[in-house]
Amino acid sequence: MIQNQPLMRNGYYQERYRPHIHFTPEQMWMNDPNGLVYFEGEYHLFYQYHPDSKQWGPMHWGHAVSKDLLEWEHLPVALYPDDLGMIFSGSAVVDHKDTSGFFDGKPGLVAVYTNADGDLQRQSIAYSKDRGRTWVKYGENPVIQNPGIKDFRDPKVFWHETTQKWVMVLAAGRKVQFYTSPDLKRWTYVSEFGEGWGEQKGVWECPDLFPLTNEVSGEKKWVLPIGIDAGAPSGGSGTQYFIGAFDGKHFVPHQPKEAVRWLDYGKDFYASQSFSDVPWRRVVLAWMSNWQYANDVPTDPWRSAMTIPRELNLSVVEGQERLIQKPIAELTRLIEKRIENDSFFLKEKQSIELIQPASPFLWELDVEIEKGGVFEGRLFGDQETGLRVGIDCEKNSIYVQRDRAEVDFSKEYVCTCQAPLSGDRSSFHLKLLCDHSSVELFVGDGEISMTNLYLPADDYEAKLKVEAVRGTVEVKQSSVFEMTSVWRQNS
Ligand code: FRU
Repeated sequence: MIQNQPLMRNGYYQERYRPHIHFTPEQMWMNDPNGLVYFEGEYHLFYQYHPDSKQWGPMHWGHAVSKDLLEWEHLPVALYPDDLGMIFSGSAVVDHKDTSGFFDGKPGLVAVYTNADGDLQRQSIAYSKDRGRTWVKYGENPVIQNPGIKDFRDPKVFWHETTQKWVMVLAAGRKVQFYTSPDLKRWTYVSEFGEGWGEQKGVWECPDLFPLTNEVSGEKKWVLPIGIDAGAPSGGSGTQYFIGAFDGKHFVPHQPKEAVRWLDYGKDFYASQSFSDVPWRRVVLAWMSNWQYANDVPTDPWRSAMTIPRELNLSVVEGQERLIQKPIAELTRLIEKRIENDSFFLKEKQSIELIQPASPFLWELDVEIEKGGVFEGRLFGDQETGLRVGIDCEKNSIYVQRDRAEVDFSKEYVCTCQAPLSGDRSSFHLKLLCDHSSVELFVGDGEISMTNLYLPADDYEAKLKVEAVRGTVEVKQSSVFEMTSVWRQNS
């Protein structure tokens, strides 16, 4: 249970649709997470921020810090637009050995980002000597000039132990490029990957690259997640990934050219980035929106939230190497109460209400369902409205159907997201995390995730209801967890 109960004075973070366990800026527009790094006991979250509007505009880096990735302290804007342009997405690293010479031999933080000036995109760096509180832009920016590529952005940098060099992976049109550097200032182009690979319907953005050890085979592999701005399975922007080998210069994928793997099958998971310099685990955050309607989501006075932080692992599921995502273990600290439902059978067309959590908008639900028929969970609303989560054993798929929104702000909002399920499973474990305006779904051990915004209508029915749509369904186990909010007023 959380130690310090959040203060809820003056309606702070109490607005309609305001998430209580997810990061949101106090006000105004936010998109991608940037500069995710762990340094001296603090997780830093920078983010694409427009401090003057709830619409995308001149990009800054907003900033927050946390000790546990759940309770965030808002800090002043870290990077402002400058003569080289706006501050687009990028990453941050701890320069442990002071390779840059910025830190008098001590470790310090370096941010690497894109300066965007009209259509001209170039890479620049900035450094901080005071744990990220203030930043100095390098006097010789940009550190990478534009080679004549329109979409040339979102540098993700890491230290490559074997070659003792910094590596940058950078989105360049519909592929990525790799650069290396001894000091974060002088960069050399070394290779590229991706032309004709994976999903090519949209421009590639926000790449990441990190090693993970497969927990079944023990083999070390490199994972390369990449955002595409259009063409994701549920429409609009989404995130694919490649698994392969990386020697410090070249990425070699272990899959056929046309294979596409999705990090998330929902509509609202984009621009994911992993934290740098967390030695014991790999944690990612993504922006919980979609470029199809991000500028119109009816929240006020802020716009957009991050996903729950997720730990990534690599495993083998049904014979295939897959990324596994789980909400970080720290989340269990927010559980206030666990409500167990008995197991039950539902005959065709029969439905049942689960025991309801105290807050209809903040809960986790864990269910184990025996294979068979078509099962559907209605989370809000009735047949016409609301959010439905279903397992269709006839089509071997899992789906989330999102119907009429509170306000009809975009025709793209109404959608059905689907992910394939293998026919070999005898039962399905689902974990759902609901926080006021979003529902994140994890299937099995986390080999499938589906992240969706959901903005319930005023007249929604606050009920967790399950139904056997076709055939008989057995719900073997179901637990509802009540959670507590993480926000308190900054003093
Ligand atoms: C992805 C993105 C990035 C870019 C940033 C601009 O959502 O388009 O490619 O750096 O947003 O805000």
